[in-house]
Amino acid sequence: MKPRIVIRTVKITDLPQIMDIERRVFPHPWTEAHLMFEITNKPVSGTTVALIDNEIVGYLMYHLIYDVVHINNIAVDSTRQRKGVGRLLMESFYRYLPERQPCNIFLEVDQTNQAAIRFYKKFGFEEIDRRKNYYPAGGDALVMKKKLENYGLVQA
Ligand SMILES: CC(C)(COP(=O)(O)OP(=O)(O)OC[C@H]1O[C@@H](n2cnc3c(N)ncnc32)[C@H](O)[C@@H]1OP(=O)(O)O)[C@@H](O)C(=O)NCCC(=O)NCCS
Repeated sequence: MKPRIVIRTVKITDLPQIMDIERRVFPHPWTEAHLMFEITNKPVSGTTVALIDNEIVGYLMYHLIYDVVHINNIAVDSTRQRKGVGRLLMESFYRYLPERQPCNIFLEVDQTNQAAIRFYKKFGFEEIDRRKNYYPAGGDALVMKKKLENYGLVQA
């Protein structure tokens, strides 16, 4: 049976579980201070989390400035990948944005991270640019963009 995935906005008490996932899935994880900043820096920053059986299994962090959304971080715990958690995070986070109008979503992804690039393309993101030496280890990033027509359906 498929597990039931629940999406909600982040709570400060989610931080330890988010940190654990961050450390498991990224070679250069964000620090606790950075994650804490993203969780608390409202209204510019937003975070939605995905839960299975009340346990956090993934999260998506974004910034919203006027009509521009920037996805800063998305991760699904290693043992929970390829089960539709990322899909649900990606398809539902914009419902928590405060307004309803067309906007552009941007993100950067390591050009060697083929899994993430395929994931983003699946959800309509297109490569628009490249950034040289974007990552701490010196890797280049692809800049990807998607236009979103409607959002803001849920009161956070
Ligand atoms: C990228 C990531 C968030 C995807 O989350 P996920 O829950 O595994 O993704 P889903 O199961 O919802 O997959 C949705 C679709 O994305 C694509 N996709 C996801 N992972 C993929 C992979 N490893 N290889 C190829 N395509 C993939 C597929 O089209 C998939 O649909 P399908 O399963 O029906 O074929 C997850 O792999 C992850 O956390 N990776 C490590 C952290 C990371 O790299 N984050 C991105 C930083 S820019």
